[in-house]
Amino acid sequence: MQQQRRRIGILTGGGDCPGLNAVIRAATRSAIYLGYKVVGIRRGFEGLADPVQTMPLTIANTYNILNQGGTILGSTNKGRFSVKVGTNQLRELDPALVAMVRRNLEELEIDGLICIGGDGSLTIAWQLFRAGLPIVGVPKTIDNDLRGTAFTFGFDSAVACAANALDRLHTTAASHERVMVLEVMGRHTGWIALHAGLAGGGDVILIPEIDWTFENVCAKILARQRMGRRFTLIVVAEGARLPDGGLVTADASSADRQVRLGGIGQVVAEEVGRRLDVETRCVVLGHLQRGGEPTYFDRCLSTQYGAHAVRLIEEQKFGQMVSYDPPDMTSVSIEAAIERLHTVDPNGAGVQAARAMAVSFGDTPDYQNPFPNSQIKQETYAEQFNVSPSAIGVSHFDDYE
Ligand code: F6P
Repeated sequence: MQQQRRRIGILTGGGDCPGLNAVIRAATRSAIYLGYKVVGIRRGFEGLADPVQTMPLTIANTYNILNQGGTILGSTNKGRFSVKVGTNQLRELDPALVAMVRRNLEELEIDGLICIGGDGSLTIAWQLFRAGLPIVGVPKTIDNDLRGTAFTFGFDSAVACAANALDRLHTTAASHERVMVLEVMGRHTGWIALHAGLAGGGDVILIPEIDWTFENVCAKILARQRMGRRFTLIVVAEGARLPDGGLVTADASSADRQVRLGGIGQVVAEEVGRRLDVETRCVVLGHLQRGGEPTYFDRCLSTQYGAHAVRLIEEQKFGQMVSYDPPDMTSVSIEAAIERLHTVDPNGAGVQAARAMAVSFGDTPDYQNPFPNSQIKQETYAEQFNVSPSAIGVSHFDDYE
């Protein structure tokens, strides 16, 4: 009988995010506990192609990295392995590259590879698994847009950063009676914008999943002014489409990577300022959301993900991605996780709760009944918020008086 080699490889692919090191640490420690040797693959999947780039992972060199941002292995979201390019076009890996990876994994004597990544990296992982390589996945992305798990790690840390930014913008916006626009990440989905808006008290939230217009955004600002609130906080996801359907990009070149989004916040700020003659400012939070230490929730989630990924290898459950199904840790096929994106449900609990807080998504000119299936009276809603329908001048409350 062939002797089991018991060597695990770990790589981090795509954009970095808080919690990567916590996963590396947890997977390394639990693998060593089970008697494996652990090899770190450097610079994402690139480290698996010639020239191979690896480092041993030990208890000693993964010590004290639980709360460290970034990844000690390095990562990349472009290059030879990019299978998601442009605005989400899918490519197949070059068969010669797959053969090279197969040979290198053999030479490294790796019999289980943990791929920590988001939609793009797990699509690469799936293609390698389909080619017969022993792969398990761990769901990483601040965007939270992977299916098959309650949360990806990194998301909570990004939301904490964006909500903290809103707290800070609140006081300066109020002092100067300005409209503040906060642009947050979220390439295809509005999870960060929605959760940061809920946690940080945003007044308008613009996300890719809900079509919006400048008229409706301006109506909300005016309604707030009539109520005596002379400032407004707008949170916009970088991937929210303009009313004409266009995406705002910072760099459209996309030969071996996805287009870089960015700039919609400034467009919103300028247009609102022009239409209402109010002072506006835009803050682009950018990579601050990806840097720094993970929240305690992300540390805990990452640790469970790392330990469970080793368990999947031990049980030879290749082609699976660890999945958080609160309170349990389980797994789903990588294919199911990447089949389509996990987007914000426009009628889901988060959006309904936001609407109940009188948040506008820019899709209607007035307050919308947040609970479409309930018997709640608009009058009750208006009273709760101490809103006089005539004061805000919106048709929704016309029969209130
Ligand atoms: O996918 C995670 C993400 O942070 C997106 O939200 C964002 O569009 C992209 O990565 C930014 O990538 P880069 O680091 O290449 O600018």
